[in-house]
Amino acid sequence: MNRIFFRFFMLVMLSISGATFVIYFAMSRLFGDPLDDIARRQASAQIFLVEQYVDKARADEWLARLNRVREVSDTRYDLIPLQKARSFLPATSLGALDRGDVVLDIDGKSFYRRVDLKGERYIGSEDEVIHAQDLPIDVSLALQMEAVRYVIVALALLVPIALWSRSHWQGLQSLSRVADEFGAGKLSARAHMQPSSSIYPLAERIDHMADRIEELLVSQKNLLHSVSHELRTPIARLEFALELLGAKTDDPALHKRIAAMEGDVSELNSLVSELLGMARLDSGQAPQRETVELAALLHTVEAALPPGQPVLAIDCAPDVGTIEADARLLGRALSNLLRNAQKYAASTIRVTARREGARVTIAVEDDGPGIPPDERERIFEPFYRLDRSRDRATGGFGLGLSIARKAVLLHGGLVQVTGSELGGARFLVVLPQR
Ligand SMILES: Nc1ncnc2c1ncn2[C@@H]1O[C@H](COP(=O)(O)OP(=O)(O)OP(=O)(O)O)[C@@H](O)[C@H]1O
Ligand SMILES: [Mg+2]
Repeated sequence: MNRIFFRFFMLVMLSISGATFVIYFAMSRLFGDPLDDIARRQASAQIFLVEQYVDKARADEWLARLNRVREVSDTRYDLIPLQKARSFLPATSLGALDRGDVVLDIDGKSFYRRVDLKGERYIGSEDEVIHAQDLPIDVSLALQMEAVRYVIVALALLVPIALWSRSHWQGLQSLSRVADEFGAGKLSARAHMQPSSSIYPLAERIDHMADRIEELLVSQKNLLHSVSHELRTPIARLEFALELLGAKTDDPALHKRIAAMEGDVSELNSLVSELLGMARLDSGQAPQRETVELAALLHTVEAALPPGQPVLAIDCAPDVGTIEADARLLGRALSNLLRNAQKYAASTIRVTARREGARVTIAVEDDGPGIPPDERERIFEPFYRLDRSRDRATGGFGLGLSIARKAVLLHGGLVQVTGSELGGARFLVVLPQR
């Protein structure tokens, strides 16, 4: 809010300053310098004295009158040569001086005026100028008044702008809150804005879009769940039938075939289990939190791994302690990362757990082929696997990382992948304390 308002404030101030200059220049061009006008009014008594009292004297009395004025006045009246006066004045004022007009010097608080144009008052009077100094000219007050006027106009503009941007800002904030919640998986988040709000049409469209997305996601989840669930029964029947068939025959060739088919069916079975597991994670249910000893969890996960060649080193800092989490879900995520490392490592896997303030980080690294930078986001998509031929040999459906990320996201954490100094991939799980 403050930022938007500050920008508006700066903009309004800038345009008002710009407008002030434009007004000043336009006015001076069209009607003469307004400051000159003010100064002329302030010096009007002295000008009046010269024009209406001194000048009205007979030619031979003109100097005497001027001297009388000098005696009684606080203003200094000097007679200076025309050339000298011309050198004090800017080129734009010389025309007026030559014509015999009063020319003001606002900064010098003085004015200049030729004694006369034809030398009628005394010998050489056409070449002399009256220079009146110490005039009561003070334009700073006028400038201050002008500034106050513009500040009041600026404030009068800013108040409605502030009110207007405030109502916008509040609306936008509630929209961004909805977007955050929706993005974090809370599909029921809606703006529900008042029709009187200035961004109501936008909020209404976003709510409508959220409705549609929620519908689509729910129906997709339901479909995935139902299909996986429905597949279980025929798979179980197939398993049973294959077993019966195996028991009924002595043909070794057929036994081999049946064993291969049983392998396929069991693969199908584990795919269905994985899909059902994923559908459960997608259901948006909050994980059941309990206090989990992280070091113990890592060792349990390690113990449950299939026996593999790579050497696994777990380096768990003593202060890692416990976190509030669903041990089963978190164990599953870590197990998926470790299984991958086992599949792809050449000889070494390193697991490092650290506490960093209110977060716990767990890094799983290996010395395998690693993951090219442009694939690092895609490997978390369901069924996405790198380099088909390599992966086919390692087995798997491409669901492991997707499940791991969903499980960690449900805990408010995140999973990232980078390169490891061991040479392979480095998966980093960051979990908030709670
Ligand atoms: N440690 C790793 N080193 C190199 N590549 C990896 C590593 N972990 C994952 N990958 C790549 O990411 C892909 C996706 O991993 P993911 O765990 O989702 O699937 P998967 O291991 O192939 O199958 P699943 O986990 O379902 O059994 C893998 O196929 C592999 O190509
Ligand atoms: Mg995997």
